Amino acid sequence: MIRETIMTGKMSGTMRLNKFISNNGSIARRTAEEYIRQGRVTINNMTVTDPAFNIIENKDKVRVDGELVKTSRKKVYIVLNKPRKVISGVSDDKHRTTVTDLIKSKEKIFPVGRLDYDTSGLILLTNDGEFANRLMHPRYKVEKTYRVKLSKPIEEKHKLLIQKGVRLGRKVTAPAYISFINPKDKRYINITIHEGMNRQVRKVFESFGYFVDKLERIKYGYLTLRGLASGQWRHLEPKEIQSLTKICKPEEK
Ligand code: URA
Repeated sequence: MIRETIMTGKMSGTMRLNKFISNNGSIARRTAEEYIRQGRVTINNMTVTDPAFNIIENKDKVRVDGELVKTSRKKVYIVLNKPRKVISGVSDDKHRTTVTDLIKSKEKIFPVGRLDYDTSGLILLTNDGEFANRLMHPRYKVEKTYRVKLSKPIEEKHKLLIQKGVRLGRKVTAPAYISFINPKDKRYINITIHEGMNRQVRKVFESFGYFVDKLERIKYGYLTLRGLASGQWRHLEPKEIQSLTKICKPEEK
């Protein structure tokens, strides 16, 4: 009880429990929050269910599902060209191949956002929860470009409507940008969006009667798939990490 009273105020060397777990690299902050609420997290062997609980960074032993969260882990940033029929998660209950199965890393990495099982292309993986959170946060509007093969050529009126924004259930998509890869075959297009609604690209085209026969993410912020064949991956260069960090930097107050 005394500990609780002391730790709810912010002291130096302390950090919110959810942020600590996310920063030290095993999971994104929202997932950390869920785990905490589910009672899977202990501090010094006591279960704590409040994500806002402040821990003492160099003293408290935090465990998730019994596994110690180690501080000062080496941060890892990877870009993968995900093949189709690979799950963008760290495990799969149906034992299908996951993106982390394709990568050799001593660190416990996880994907930044997701791509559908049938979507191929650029996906980032990291153990830096804060970096992942920022990239996925809607506030920073990080652009992603997808190469799409449609079931039939797109009509100009539909292209214009999709560019303006489309109602999907209770939400309207933000403006998108569409270009033709080959103006003579209007089944092939590139679309750039900055949101990440579930199956957004597929749903947008389906709402106008087009099926997406093929979907590949070719660009994420400044990053492209250049030099990476399907299934290949590499570590990001320091300047690539810097550029990505820069586009989702909180404004100075
Ligand atoms: N939009 C989709 O429909 N699927 C993806 O995998 C990514 C964006």
